[in-house]
Amino acid sequence: MPDPITPQSLTEILFRFRCIACGALGGAAAQDFRCSQCGDLLEITYPSRVYAAPSAADLKSTWRSRRLSNAPIDLSGVWRFRDLLPPLSGDDQAITLREGNTPLYELPRCARIAGIPNLLAKHQGMNPTGSFKDTGMTVAASFAHQAGFRWVACASTGNTSASMAAYAARGGMRSLVLVPEGKISWSKLSQALDYGALTCQLRTDFDGCLRLLQELVRRAPVYQLNSINPFRLEGQKTLALELLEQLDWEPPDHIIVPGGNLGNSSAIGKALLEMRELGLISRLPKLSIIQAEGANALVRTLRETGGKRLVSVQAETHATAIRIGNPASWKKAVHVLEATGGACDQVSEVEIAQAKAEIGAEGIGCEPASAVTLAGLKKLVAQGFVQPNETVVLVLTGSLLKDPDFTMGFHRGDLFQETTGDRGSEGLKSLRRPPVVLNATLDAVIRTLEEAEKLDPAHSHG
Ligand code: F0G
Repeated sequence: MPDPITPQSLTEILFRFRCIACGALGGAAAQDFRCSQCGDLLEITYPSRVYAAPSAADLKSTWRSRRLSNAPIDLSGVWRFRDLLPPLSGDDQAITLREGNTPLYELPRCARIAGIPNLLAKHQGMNPTGSFKDTGMTVAASFAHQAGFRWVACASTGNTSASMAAYAARGGMRSLVLVPEGKISWSKLSQALDYGALTCQLRTDFDGCLRLLQELVRRAPVYQLNSINPFRLEGQKTLALELLEQLDWEPPDHIIVPGGNLGNSSAIGKALLEMRELGLISRLPKLSIIQAEGANALVRTLRETGGKRLVSVQAETHATAIRIGNPASWKKAVHVLEATGGACDQVSEVEIAQAKAEIGAEGIGCEPASAVTLAGLKKLVAQGFVQPNETVVLVLTGSLLKDPDFTMGFHRGDLFQETTGDRGSEGLKSLRRPPVVLNATLDAVIRTLEEAEKLDPAHSHG
């Protein structure tokens, strides 16, 4: 007689953990989300799709029709795509802040600067806590809650901790945040405090925080919510699903994403491959990853070892979100670069600051780490990797409001000390809009207005 089907066995059939190195399959994962055989990272797979793949047309119409629903699970831009996510035991188990549903903007001025007409930005900074992390956090926090955990924890450069703290609070869980002291923006730190996290500023860098967390989860009953947790990456896949839906399932030629710990690029790549396998799209966009020169572990890994062995670096960049030298998901990222034919490159501090100001001047804005995408695009166009007739989507990962110190420093002109080797920063002058302190008289304001018009008479209207 066959085994009776229990809810547990059904879940196991619907999704499994697979080791990315040795391929070992399991129905459960250890606390550190590492393979019990070889220690490498896990990913989530869906064996049931081999027997009964959902039809692409049905999926598209289901996702569209859910947009008319007011149920919390359908109002989430992540759970709306739940057919491609690990299933919860019930719709009411989702901890959701109505994440996802982020806009796709045209960037006409940046397009002119980069020399390609078709440039779009998928703005993940428009998520509830201001970064793309929310799309993964809703899934991983819901599974933590469903498993009965009281404490969740993460190491972070700021955004993960802000997001985790919010979702833990919504789900009635406590959260422990480990961040590098003095190396994350006040905006992000203040979010974690406001959402009630126990926040530890450790005297180390992000890589040191993550190492410590990995040890902690083996010793204490805390659930780790870094992107090593494969549930996070399943949620972050929906960025690509939503993007393709917004493009009426016509793939762009290129998607460009910043690279830090390399979870997001891995998640987007996984989504693209699943979408092609299910027939939702017929060709793959090239997914390219851009890093800061001072935090270029993946760039060096590819250049120096052909992607075979991780080259760690001592990370340093003003784009603190991606100040990471030992990226956990590097193997997954190498795989998606190879599978989609994408490029990997690096950009300087000055190039990042310039690109950020250019995105800001479109009335859009983003945090420094997100601006590496535009800076990288300029390089990829110059190299001929991106052709002028191709469509490009930049993934803007965080809101402008995440790092006001960087923005103020840039416009006031004190972001770069010329002695620190940030060459070329004089060229940024024309982009600076420092605040002007005046006496409170009509005359003074009118004079300032006239001077501004004189300095920039050709300012474009479109
Ligand atoms: N952009 C922003 C704004 C980020 O916060 C991060 C990562 C990245 C890009 C890079 O994404 O790590 O998936 O390659 N921030 C993490 C954090 C590490 O702790 O908030 P990745």
